[in-house]
Amino acid sequence: MRRVYLDHSATTPIDARVVQAMLPYLTETFGNASSIHQFGQEARAAVDKARRQVASLINARANEIVFTSGGTEANNLAIRGVCEARQTSGRHIITSAIEHPSVRGMVEYLEQNGWTITRLPVYDNGLVRVDDVRAAIRADTVLISVMMANNEIGTIQPVKEIGALVRGRRESGQKHLSFHTDAVQAAGRAAIDVELIGCDLLSFSAHKMYAPKGVGALFIRRGTRLFPQQIGGHQERERRAGTEPVPNIVAFGAAAELARQEMVQRNEHTARLRDRFEREVEARIETIVFNGDRRQRLSHVSNISFRFIEGEGLLIHLDMQGVAVSTGSACSSGTLEPSPVIKALGRDEELARGAIRFSFGKDNTDEDVEVAVEAITRAVESLRAISPLVRESIAT
Ligand SMILES: Cc1ncc(COP(=O)(O)O)c(C=O)c1O
Repeated sequence: MRRVYLDHSATTPIDARVVQAMLPYLTETFGNASSIHQFGQEARAAVDKARRQVASLINARANEIVFTSGGTEANNLAIRGVCEARQTSGRHIITSAIEHPSVRGMVEYLEQNGWTITRLPVYDNGLVRVDDVRAAIRADTVLISVMMANNEIGTIQPVKEIGALVRGRRESGQKHLSFHTDAVQAAGRAAIDVELIGCDLLSFSAHKMYAPKGVGALFIRRGTRLFPQQIGGHQERERRAGTEPVPNIVAFGAAAELARQEMVQRNEHTARLRDRFEREVEARIETIVFNGDRRQRLSHVSNISFRFIEGEGLLIHLDMQGVAVSTGSACSSGTLEPSPVIKALGRDEELARGAIRFSFGKDNTDEDVEVAVEAITRAVESLRAISPLVRESIAT
């Protein structure tokens, strides 16, 4: 059976060139980057090079990059690190209703510990409004954390406008206000320039850009105060203790460089496949709803709700046909929780439960699209044939 992977927002395969770049650091060049001898120096040089490569993907300076274990840790470090450093200036955070659990969960934790949270709505297009951000800023706001691109629907938030707003506030005296953006989905897929965005902190992760799992980075603008969350070593300029995973960091550097060089072609390719996919699904299947703004979104994602069926059922049917996709809903205590992101768009429970994310990658082909469309058409037909929701809708 031909297998088709359409879940690149979950993770990507490692590029063969990235594997080649990291291999020597898994074998002969194994030193600890903190050691003084030659072995250590070689590892240090490799980490320094990777730091420059990763920094250049987002137009940052190398010394503004802190390597972490991934996007989750980068988000945790950004939010808790800034809040702990700033708590005497204020205890108010602004965030959006559709953040990744690594932001949402950390913000909830702070809320339980006495912080006040404003969660911005995203409306039916999945986008926050800059006017809402402006209206939410208070004298005691210390952090705004709004993601650059959403992991379920791919919508790209107006981060540049939020950055300008924050800069304006700082210039007029609100010195303790910082802006963090979770760019885990965007990095390597959309052009990122931290100077243009004007953010103080930006999280990203290697395994979404054809590099291994277990490494990510947090951009911390020079001068941003932040308490480290991992203590017990001088690594990463005292901001993240622990021996650096040199092979992973080298791989991240190589992948960042490739992403920078190939971004335009990759995006043209995924956008063409994704758009063809959407046209064909729309032509063949009735009563579907596209989720999120279809222009202001990443080029590789499509999120579709199929009425009358549950996303999980469709996912399993597709998996049996070799097509890998994902849902944003979660199974908790035996019941299917609808995706909070799709619900935040104002969709009803049924649509939120019927949402599926298809995410394309640089190595997908037209044949993959054809196989996936066939499989979806078959799966939707057989699921709708037995769906009690179809019977209810005919009866009403
Ligand atoms: C938007 C977003 N933020 C954060 C993360 C977490 O990144 P990691 O898997 O590297 O911990 C993900 C992963 O799916 C994500 O999509």
